[in-house]
Amino acid sequence: MREHLDNLLESAFTSISIPDEPASLYDPVRYTMDFGGKRFRPRLVLLTAGLCGGDLEEALPVALAVEMLHNFTLIHDDIMDNANTRRGKPSVHKKWDKPTAILSGDVLFALAMKQLNEYGNGEPEFLQTRARLMSRFLDVIQTVCDGQALDMEFQSRDDVTTEEYLAMIRAKTAALIRCSMEMGAIVAGADDQMLRKCADIGNHTGLAFQIQDDLLDAVGDSGKFGKKVGGDIIEGKKTYLSILALERADDTDRNVLKQILGNSKTGESEILRVIRIYHDLGVIDSAAKAVTRHYQSARQQLELFEESDFRNEINVLLDKLKVRDN
Ligand code: IPE
Ligand code: IPE
Ligand code: MG
Ligand code: MG
Ligand code: MG
Repeated sequence: MREHLDNLLESAFTSISIPDEPASLYDPVRYTMDFGGKRFRPRLVLLTAGLCGGDLEEALPVALAVEMLHNFTLIHDDIMDNANTRRGKPSVHKKWDKPTAILSGDVLFALAMKQLNEYGNGEPEFLQTRARLMSRFLDVIQTVCDGQALDMEFQSRDDVTTEEYLAMIRAKTAALIRCSMEMGAIVAGADDQMLRKCADIGNHTGLAFQIQDDLLDAVGDSGKFGKKVGGDIIEGKKTYLSILALERADDTDRNVLKQILGNSKTGESEILRVIRIYHDLGVIDSAAKAVTRHYQSARQQLELFEESDFRNEINVLLDKLKVRDN
């Protein structure tokens, strides 16, 4: 089953056609789509379609559209976060420049929409489901933008609460993971109850995923993470770690944190100082526990589905995500 899934995804990704010209527009798109990433969102689309009794091949255009949209968000996110490295290579705005990255991101967004539009090959019996998928997709795009805006707004605040943070990551990250599962379920014609369960699994997986990303950004292995470790500290991002630390710190530590987080002069020694404070305040430990908790909740919802190869494979995927180092 896993091999079948791998083959389906592999040949679908190879079949994506990206024009050659203008090269300044499409080379960055090819660069982004070709240099990998975990590609777990399209896998979730297919697995959820299978979980709900649907056809995997029918779900392929949806799977590709989700991954293309994800890659679009990364290109723009790296501009917004001043991030120069992605997947161990220069990010698009670094390899080319910002105007190029903006436009290539825009066209990738359009290509994602076109890809979704391929669902059902224009056959009349698929039109209604296609409309449902499109509406879900448009909603999630808006939600991701909402989340990204909050992420930026939070940088200049030091009173962000854990609740506000969770609402922000629910939007910027969990929404697309949740949507991947919902769209897989929609393709399968799942009923409302099933759809809600899938949404819940996706939401918890997404929350775990972003808290884990925050953790890796501070204490990950720079050789494996593929992004700059300490990037969130330099940018002054409000992460699960920085928010808990600001909450728990005494006046001295809080002042140190406020001085270093988001300071353009922050270098390696300041990053290490913040990480030491995170450890001392038990923040690293709390974040790891939150990750475990959300994966557990996802798993509990998954258990409500009948035993099947697809259910097992989603469990395997969750296990892999849980121990990821990139
Ligand atoms: C990165 O997503 C953006 C976040 C939501 C943290 P991934 O970690 O899935 O990125 P790739 O596609 O595997 O590089
Ligand atoms: C991820 O936030 C959200 C989106 C890309 C939409 P991050 O800014 O933490 O993602 P990375 O760490 O750059 O991948
Ligand atoms: Mg980023
Ligand atoms: Mg970001
Ligand atoms: Mg991050």
